[in-house]
Amino acid sequence: MEDLLNKIPNKVQEVLGHIGKAASELNAPAYVVGGLVRDLILNRKRKLDEADVDVVCVGSGIDLAKKAGKMLKPGPKVSWFKNFGTAHFNYNKVDYEFVGARKESYQRNSRKPIVEDGTLEDDQLRRDFTINALAISLQEEDFGRLLDPFNGLEDLDKKIIRTPLNPDITFSDDPLRMMRAIRFASQLDFHIEEKAFKAIQKNKERIKIVSAERIILELNKIIEVDQPSRGFKLLKDSGLLQIIFPEMIRLCGVDVKNGIGHKDNFYHTIEVLDNLCKNTDDLWLRWAAILHDIAKPNTKRFEEGAGWTFHGHEVVGARMVPKIFRRFKLPMDDRMKYVQKLVNLHLRPISLTKENVTDSAIRRLLFDAGDDIDDLMLLCQADITSKNEKKVKRFLENYEIVKAKLIEVEESDKIRNWQPPITGELIMETFGISPSRTVGIIKNAIREGILDGEIVNEYEKAFQFMLAKGAEMGLEPVK
Ligand code: CTP
Repeated sequence: MEDLLNKIPNKVQEVLGHIGKAASELNAPAYVVGGLVRDLILNRKRKLDEADVDVVCVGSGIDLAKKAGKMLKPGPKVSWFKNFGTAHFNYNKVDYEFVGARKESYQRNSRKPIVEDGTLEDDQLRRDFTINALAISLQEEDFGRLLDPFNGLEDLDKKIIRTPLNPDITFSDDPLRMMRAIRFASQLDFHIEEKAFKAIQKNKERIKIVSAERIILELNKIIEVDQPSRGFKLLKDSGLLQIIFPEMIRLCGVDVKNGIGHKDNFYHTIEVLDNLCKNTDDLWLRWAAILHDIAKPNTKRFEEGAGWTFHGHEVVGARMVPKIFRRFKLPMDDRMKYVQKLVNLHLRPISLTKENVTDSAIRRLLFDAGDDIDDLMLLCQADITSKNEKKVKRFLENYEIVKAKLIEVEESDKIRNWQPPITGELIMETFGISPSRTVGIIKNAIREGILDGEIVNEYEKAFQFMLAKGAEMGLEPVK
């Protein structure tokens, strides 16, 4: 264990050495705590240019940051929050966070802590989990020594998420920790101690006082693990999902009529998500999987002869995407539009049966999906979760046919990101008309003609088609 700090890059070790020196000059012993220590023990890769180095000292964290900052060349810009007693600097692309050890208790309905100075152990006791409460000394006399008053090391070994204090208090201090418990269980493949899990179930309502911005950071971290289904099951079983994401809870359950049931769309969705995660790390594509069937409960019908149907769920689902993104404070930009598009198109590739995998159907799919076609195909492939082997075989065969056709048609027609060769301006110029519905009709006819394969995708052919279409509408070229 002595060598823990040797595992981190020299440039960070040097800074820690300076922090230790500054701490002894201030007579405020300093320690590295939190995620870095945990990950060092787990031998888990931690990108230090993305994650912080957290330092706690028995004294003023702000004074320590200022003093350590002065010892570094070139001196980093130190910033601090007096009210919270925290400070920060970035040095060599690594973020260092400083805080004074505290005994703190939070007011009931707010996250604003009442802070009192405390010992290192007071501070460790107030942290979220034992595995995050391990500290490494930065003092010259015992540099690198591990301080573990709450058996975090043992919990790391046994893969247990446990709170240092009674979990009711820990979660009540900061209810986001309930989501963090599930996030760490998902990321590290750990088990949440029963007492802690029961406390989450009991205190779940307090998640409502946490801001959407903080919640989504944790939820996205759960979505970014290799197998997010586990996190979603824990969120559901804890009762948190009901509060933060009720649309997903509506996917749960199976209705049976005349002896006919449908699949449980919650479990289907998280299975699709896991399948997809084998092939992509992209957060937004993962979001598309989460939302692909989100409108199934809204569109569910039982039709005699046909059984359960969910007609139009892709369209209704796409319409739900902005609302869900807005509530979670997810970006309302191209990333939202991308998710919306994939939800909208998710049935298209697989719904093409062998008979209608025509060039024109493929051209339309390429036109509608554009550059997102490969992502759409990944989503569709992940969506095949039937237990019926025959069905799976049929879907997979179709999928392969569509995939092969996509390559073939794209090579010959270059439809992806394609713009029809005839612009509105050219139509107006040719016939000497001003912007009007007529221009739109001609333009659409050309586009449709090319997508249907009636006209070759070339300027000259499209121009001739435009003249013919214009003539049909009583228009003549001006020149
Ligand atoms: N912490 C806490 N309660 C919180 C958030 C953080 O007690 N709600 C403490 C934990 O000791 C945690 C440390 O602050 O380890 C740093 O928090 P953070 O940077 O959010 O998480 P890490 O544990 O460092 O995890 P990672 O950076 O790997 O996500």
